[in-house]
Amino acid sequence: MFQSIERRPPDPILGLSAAYKVDTNPDKVDLGVGVYKDEAGNCPVMKAVKAAENLLWKTEDSKSYIAQAGPELFIKHTAELLLGADHPALGEGRTCTVLAAGGSGSLRVAAEFINRNAPGTRIFVSDPTWNNHIPLLGSAGLKLETYPYYDHASHSISFDAMMSKLAGAKKGDLVLIHGCCHNPCGADLNQAQWQAVAEAALKQGFTPFIDLAYQGLGDGLVEDVYGLRLLASTLPELVVASSFSKNFGLYRERTGAVTVMTENSKSAEAANSQIVATAREIYSVPPAHGAALVAIVMEDAALRQEWDMELTEMRDRINGLRSQLVSKLQASGVDRDFSFIRNEKGMFSFLGLNAEQVKRLVNEFSIYLVGSSRINVAGINNRNIDYLVQSIAAVL
Ligand code: LMR
Repeated sequence: MFQSIERRPPDPILGLSAAYKVDTNPDKVDLGVGVYKDEAGNCPVMKAVKAAENLLWKTEDSKSYIAQAGPELFIKHTAELLLGADHPALGEGRTCTVLAAGGSGSLRVAAEFINRNAPGTRIFVSDPTWNNHIPLLGSAGLKLETYPYYDHASHSISFDAMMSKLAGAKKGDLVLIHGCCHNPCGADLNQAQWQAVAEAALKQGFTPFIDLAYQGLGDGLVEDVYGLRLLASTLPELVVASSFSKNFGLYRERTGAVTVMTENSKSAEAANSQIVATAREIYSVPPAHGAALVAIVMEDAALRQEWDMELTEMRDRINGLRSQLVSKLQASGVDRDFSFIRNEKGMFSFLGLNAEQVKRLVNEFSIYLVGSSRINVAGINNRNIDYLVQSIAAVL
């Protein structure tokens, strides 16, 4: 049965961590997979999460299955974080939220749910987009098309080209948009651009599908959902795949959610039943631990405040590193303007290097980054930044 199976190459992002681990160069730098790292280079458990774990350890009295859609408090707080507690769609019961296994699990469950109800639905994804979007959404049966998004030459969003491609999106199509902190380019839509997308969706009837994996890591918890909330108050329908991997540091706990906003409460109930049935056919019921921690933190005013402060610290650190990197590259005398990195958001930016230059950074300098020249800014710290700058200057 398995004799003719061919070995697959390592994942272009996750494979970098494995290669980094076995590299014996003491100067090695890991700017690969998108996990937050502190100044010491660790991906710590957040203090509020640790406190919630202590509480959970003391109070959890069963490991029986949880509800198919996840704990009620998790559902409530997830929906409120996305839309705002006073959003009319919540009061009117026009949304459903279902716990799923991380942002990726949420994307896949949402895609499967949509494809089962409308096989071969077309989904427009940005070019570039996160490497894993294509297999996650495509394998569910959705038909993928791309829209231009990032112009590598000007380091900015090709908004006119994006909108002229999206002019072909119609009722029954999905348009996947990164809610904030675009992965891989870090370039986010501004408020006027979100407005134009909302108007196009309203006029043409397509349904936005928001991937929100980095809420709180760009400009702030509320600022980062400006576009999502604008769409939610303009349009009748919306799909969101959100994740607590990054803003709660719950990566390995696989904690995310599918949220669907519909025109009326009857459709929301129907969508909820279809989504949990879809998940039942894939992995049955969701993992409990991470969702329980989110619910504990969000319910407890002191823990919630502590989490918010820790998240602010993480965001400020990333933004500080962006500025430092730009200044140090400028000071190194490289003949290139990197100032765009300062304006981009979240963990990622492209360095704008070609494949050969990236290869040299990895092979000669032990600086691990994705082949597209995407770096995880959070992997930079005061001990490695000068080496990083010198190495970039050397390959330029
Ligand atoms: C990334 O893009 O590095 C993260 O979203 C982690 C992953 O699973 O690829």
